[in-house]
Amino acid sequence: MPTLASDLDLPMMTMDDGSRARRFTERMNLPDDVWLVRNLVGYSVWHYDDATAILRDKRWHNAAGRIAEIMGVTNEQFLGRQRESILSAEGDTHLRLRRLVAPAFSPRQADRLRPFMREVMNDLVDRVASNGRADIATDLCEPYPIPIICELLGAPKSDWQLFSRLANDILEIFSLDMANKLDLIMRSQQELDDYTTQLIADRRDKPADDLLTDLIAAEEEGDRLTNDELVMMVNAVIVGGTDTTRNQLGCALSLFAEHPEQWQLLAERPDLAPKAVEETLRYFGAVRGTMRYASTDIVYRDVLFPAGTFVGIGIAESNKDASVFSDPDTFDITAHHGDQPHLTFGSGIHYCLGQALARAELQEALPLLAQRMPNLRRDGEITWKPEGVGIFGPAHFPVTFDAGH
Ligand code: HEM
Repeated sequence: MPTLASDLDLPMMTMDDGSRARRFTERMNLPDDVWLVRNLVGYSVWHYDDATAILRDKRWHNAAGRIAEIMGVTNEQFLGRQRESILSAEGDTHLRLRRLVAPAFSPRQADRLRPFMREVMNDLVDRVASNGRADIATDLCEPYPIPIICELLGAPKSDWQLFSRLANDILEIFSLDMANKLDLIMRSQQELDDYTTQLIADRRDKPADDLLTDLIAAEEEGDRLTNDELVMMVNAVIVGGTDTTRNQLGCALSLFAEHPEQWQLLAERPDLAPKAVEETLRYFGAVRGTMRYASTDIVYRDVLFPAGTFVGIGIAESNKDASVFSDPDTFDITAHHGDQPHLTFGSGIHYCLGQALARAELQEALPLLAQRMPNLRRDGEITWKPEGVGIFGPAHFPVTFDAGH
C-alpha cells in the first residue's frame, strides 16, 4: 500500500534553503536518503533520477500555466491564455503544437543566425572595449538576445526598441509580484499580439527567410497553425528565449570571472566553446528549477501524490548529483563528467524548444568575449536578480579587463 504524501514525516524546505541552494549552487543540507521534502506549495525533489522520472512521466503536467494562479491571479482572460501556450499545454494539444513547430527550431535554423550573433556581440563589446571596464549584465547580457529574436522572427531593426520594451513588460510574469503587474503585462501582450498579427499578414503576402515564414508554412498531414497559435508561438519565443539566454550568459561569465585559467583557455581554444557551454549550463544554469502538478493520482516510489499535488524539480541540484556526474563540484570546460545530459534545458516532452538557438548564442558569445576581454576580473560585488519563478542571473556585474581588443 503506498503512503499518502501528506502522511509522511518530511523535512520542510524553507525559502532560505531554497535560495541558498539555488543561488550559490550549494547542496541542500539533507542526508542522501531523503529524496522528498515539503515546500510552501507542495513537495520538492532534487536527485537526478527523481527529477528525470517526473519530467518524463506525462501524468505530471507542467505547472507553468498555473504559477499565476498560485500567485493569486484570478483574471480568467490571462489564465486562459497561459494555459493555451506551448509552455504549459499538455496531451494531444501539446503534441500537435510541438510536431508542427519543432522543424522550425532545428540546429540548422539556429546555425543560420551564427554570423548575426557574432555581429551583435561584437557591436556590444565595441562600446566598452576601450574602457577596460563594463557592467557585463547591463552592457552585454541584457541587450544580447533581443536583436537575435527579432532577426529570428523577421522583425526589422527599427523595431528592436519596441520589442525590447514589450519583452521586458511581458517578462514581469517571472517576477514575484506579477499579480500587481498584471495590467502592464496584459497591455503589452495585447500590443505584441497586434504587432505580430501585422507581421504575420506581411509574411503571408511576402514570405522571407525567417522563423515566422517557417511557422506559417509548417504543415503536417494537412494541419496548420492558426493565426492565434502563430501569435501564441511568438509570445512563447519571447517568454522562453530572452530572459533565459541573457541570464545564462551572465551566470556563465560569473563562473569564468572566478576561473581565469579557464577563460584564457577558451580564448586560446575557441573550439572548446561547445564543451564550455555545456559545462556552464550544468554547473550554473540560469533555470534553477521547474514545477509539475499531478494531473491524476500518481504513485511514485511507493508514495501517493493525489491529483493536483505540486512538485518542484530541483534542476540545479540534479546537475550536481554525484551519483550521475563525476566530480560534480569542479568547473572544468575540458572535463567529461559522465554520459547523462544536464537538465538545464529540462527533459521529456517539454524539453526546451529553443535549445539549439540558445546553445548557438552561447557558443558564439563566450569565445568571442574571452578573446576580446582578456584578464576578465570581477570589479566589486555582483548584484543578483531577485529570485523569481526559477530564472536567476546577475542584475549588475562590474568587471575590468585588458582594454583594446
Ligand atoms: C540558455 C537558455 C535557455 C534555457 C536555460 C532554457 C530552459 C528551458 C527549460 C528548462 C524548459 C522546460 C521547462 C519545463 O519543462 O518546465 C524550456 C522550455 C522551452 N523553451 Fe527554453 N531555455 C532557453 C532558451 C530558449 C530559447 C532561446 C527559446 C526560443 C527561441 C526557448 C523556448 C522554449 C520553449 C518554447 C519552451 C517550451 C517547450 C514545450 O513546453 O514544449 N528557450 N526551456
